Amino acid sequence: MGVSNAIWNTEGQAKREAVREMFGRIASRYDLMNGLITFRLHNRWRAFSTSLLQLKPGDKALDICCGTGDFVRPLRRAVTERGAVIGLDFCLPMLEIAKSKSVAADALLLGDACNLPIASGAYDGATVGWGIRNVPDIDLAHREIARVLKPGARFVSLDMAVPRNKVLRSVSSVFCGRIIPAIGSLFGFREAYTYLPKSTERFMSREMLTESMQRAGFVECACKDLMLGNICVHWGRKG
Ligand SMILES: C[S@@+](CC[C@H](N)C(=O)[O-])C[C@H]1O[C@@H](n2cnc3c(N)ncnc32)[C@H](O)[C@@H]1O
Repeated sequence: MGVSNAIWNTEGQAKREAVREMFGRIASRYDLMNGLITFRLHNRWRAFSTSLLQLKPGDKALDICCGTGDFVRPLRRAVTERGAVIGLDFCLPMLEIAKSKSVAADALLLGDACNLPIASGAYDGATVGWGIRNVPDIDLAHREIARVLKPGARFVSLDMAVPRNKVLRSVSSVFCGRIIPAIGSLFGFREAYTYLPKSTERFMSREMLTESMQRAGFVECACKDLMLGNICVHWGRKG
């Protein structure tokens, strides 16, 4: 694929299709790669993000862009067996892996984050892990997430970020821009793991993401950097 039609240069419907197809291709190696490129810290970040939702036993939690379902375990711990954890993703091969996990969701829905097949005001909390960067219309996805939450319910989104510190930014550009694509190419996925740094460069800033959440109706929005600012978690409460 040439640079002009590379996945990171797509928008709208073309981006939706290219992203879905890319995750379909890497699904079988997604968990392994995640462990390698995050030094196995990714589950710790999901547990921290889940704690921000302040869920209670018996609550109903939704994980949007759930992929292989790694948010299910911390969400299940928070809502317990009395509650419900539902995952949603638009890529069937990722959902198939989520279905095979030992801690499985109560239901896995095939659907788009920009057009959730879910009734309004149905959930007590929602997570998105490394998903918002990939949707073609982030404002619309935030509005959809706000719509399906109950008033007062919380939303948390974990994603890549560009470090604010100049030195860390240079180190990160080598790690994300060169080392991650090189690791990806060992499995035959150079393009998908070049998409990661390229889409991060093009992604909304922390402030823009916060504003998008506020426009969608979230209040008390805040964010916190993780992994030296290479990851940022945003959260807010439906007003
Ligand atoms: C980087 S993976 C993250 C998976 C998982 N949330 C995690 O924490 O590991 C991004 C996931 O978002 C999904 N995705 C991207 N755009 C989507 C959209 N518009 N609607 C639903 N799922 C989407 C992809 O299929 C993929 O499974």
